[in-house]
Amino acid sequence: MRTAAQVGKLAERWRRAGMRVGLVPTMGALHKGHLSLVSLALGETDRVIVSIFVNPSQFGPGEDLSSYPGIFDEDLMKLEEAGAHCVFSPSVDEIYPDGFSTSINVSGLTETLCGKYRPGHFDGVATVCAVLFSIVRPDIAVFGRKDAQQLAVIRRMNDDLRFGVEILAGEIIRESDGLAMSSRNSYLSPGERVQASAIYNGLSRAAELVSEGERDDVRIYDAVREVIGKAPLATIQYLELVDPDTMKPLSKLTTPGLLAVAVYFGHTRLIDNVILKP
Ligand code: PAJ
Repeated sequence: MRTAAQVGKLAERWRRAGMRVGLVPTMGALHKGHLSLVSLALGETDRVIVSIFVNPSQFGPGEDLSSYPGIFDEDLMKLEEAGAHCVFSPSVDEIYPDGFSTSINVSGLTETLCGKYRPGHFDGVATVCAVLFSIVRPDIAVFGRKDAQQLAVIRRMNDDLRFGVEILAGEIIRESDGLAMSSRNSYLSPGERVQASAIYNGLSRAAELVSEGERDDVRIYDAVREVIGKAPLATIQYLELVDPDTMKPLSKLTTPGLLAVAVYFGHTRLIDNVILKP
């Protein structure tokens, strides 16, 4: 479906018939990570709508908006096979008609991690998700833990603006060598792809250290940097231990912490994270 009116009407019809409606927002180029969210939604609801919309407002100048992978027909096939009931793929004008002037800023959670390096990114994410929530009015919406800061921002926005949507989180789905699945993995050269597993190896080392009793942020950072440093093509943009809900830095791991990392391989920027439980 291409228009907000169509999908809004369909969702309303389903709700009126007493069915629970789930929404899985995506930007397409779907992989098993996305499809795991569809399965999660199918398990919790009667009807699942997947949106495919490459949202221009969350890309900064010089980012990969124009080259973002688009394989719409393949996506449709995958979603049909996964059992999704409706695909909403609006045009940019449908989401941002002439005169659209609103931007949602979730302050406090968006100054660290990715927010620091992608100014305006989370405003774009929060705004498009608010528009999607308003169009679909889902009972639940599913987001992946791969984008942990995004998940926290959406939860906050949903609570603050009283959308009343139940937000569910899907676990990170990985390739066999541990690399988190991402539409952007397709940008990696074969050599970069081999080395990209260093990200997961680094995060796993952190989890191992914590299970052995380590609680100090700096010693955790040092160990992760050492492991990722073994991949000569990797450049770490940030590595931070934060509270998973507030995104505030943690120096001692006395409560569960989110260890989040962004790594460049050439021009490709990959993110990943792990929850460290003391
Ligand atoms: P996109 O990158 O397409 O991701 C859509 C959803 O899939 C997000 O909730 C993301 O966290 C989840 N996801 C991606 N890779 C995953 C993996 N390996 N395992 C589990 N889940 C994974 O995130 C966006 O799109 C956009 O910002 C969006 C929320 C659609 C707003 O435009």
